[in-house]
Amino acid sequence: MTHECCLCHDRATAPQIANGRWQMANGKWVEIERRLAGLRASPPISILQLGRKPLFKTGPMRHLRNFLSAVLVIGSLSAGLFVTGCGKSEPASQSTTGGDKKAKSAYTIGMSQCNLGEPWRVEMNAQIKAAADKQPKLKVIFKDAQNDTLKQRAHVEEFVGAGVDLIIISPKEAQPLTEPVGKAMDAHIPVIVLDRSLLGDKYTCFIGADNKKIGRAAGEWLVKKLGGKGKVVELKGLMTSTPGQDRNRGFRDAISGTGIEVIFEADMKWLEPDARKEMESALSRFTKIDCVYAHNDPGAHGAYLAAQAAGRAKEMMFVGIDALQHEGVAYVKQGILDATFQYPTGGAEAIDTASKILHGEAVPKQITLGSRVFDKENVAAGGTELK
Ligand code: FRU
Repeated sequence: MTHECCLCHDRATAPQIANGRWQMANGKWVEIERRLAGLRASPPISILQLGRKPLFKTGPMRHLRNFLSAVLVIGSLSAGLFVTGCGKSEPASQSTTGGDKKAKSAYTIGMSQCNLGEPWRVEMNAQIKAAADKQPKLKVIFKDAQNDTLKQRAHVEEFVGAGVDLIIISPKEAQPLTEPVGKAMDAHIPVIVLDRSLLGDKYTCFIGADNKKIGRAAGEWLVKKLGGKGKVVELKGLMTSTPGQDRNRGFRDAISGTGIEVIFEADMKWLEPDARKEMESALSRFTKIDCVYAHNDPGAHGAYLAAQAAGRAKEMMFVGIDALQHEGVAYVKQGILDATFQYPTGGAEAIDTASKILHGEAVPKQITLGSRVFDKENVAAGGTELK
């Protein structure tokens, strides 16, 4: 387990180091911390010769001047060394501390979205924008990787090159996005990972709901509705992403030892058209299907459309995840889905957390969001919270 120390995450400190830190010394502005941090160093000059005149002078008052200069230099040296010498031993729950002493008048946040082809992600960006609009000091630059992992890697690298103050990323896949995020952290840019996680824990804060718990709740809901016995089609989200893995694991745990059997499973990559195609295969192979469990609502809807086209939609139940008001919850109200489990986007929480980090406040390493189930019985009352 590797953890960055609190000061490395302190955006009030880090950006000035990454960009070169200037400091008033002996009446002159001197670039000092960049040299100390060893980052893109300026041509080598002695610390004692920074500024237009040497810090140590001769002539009247030289003793007092020399003393004050020495205090400044030593103070800067020890601050710089402390920052660059940060170990990797802080506990996971420590993230950011340090006050707002070096506060800037504005902060730029780079938001890397893996795609905007699904309503859930459009909603995430809208929540981020709405929350950021309420904080005049925050400016968010959005990038859409259009479901292309390489493009998303490049976006993170561009944000690092541009020296943004903080990055929010909702990664497409865990493994390929781990490295560029690690590099952003190495450049002292704090990173908030939203919804899908990475490998390891080299980021500042992860925000998302508990996908295993949601998968388990979906399994338990189904065991109850089917009386402990039945044949299920599982349409999985992208299995190189953590929510797909966890929604599968939780569901399988819940149905294990019951009479519920998964007769067909396929990776529909979170996409409705893929889910529809996979469901067509399932329908052609199996004459009896009791339920479709899809890892998201677009997947459940795609399966419903396939079953409806085959004239078989009434034979089975459809369960999805996301529960956007205008998508999954509306489908439950219309009788298209039998249940949907809420997966909050975390957009507002991401901005709240970003603001804290940028102002030097401590934030937890992980923020776990809650969830609700919406089905025929409770949808009118606003669903029921998962315990
Ligand atoms: C959107 C989406 C959501 C799903 C989430 C999981 O891209 O597929 O439907 O809940 O991603 O990361």
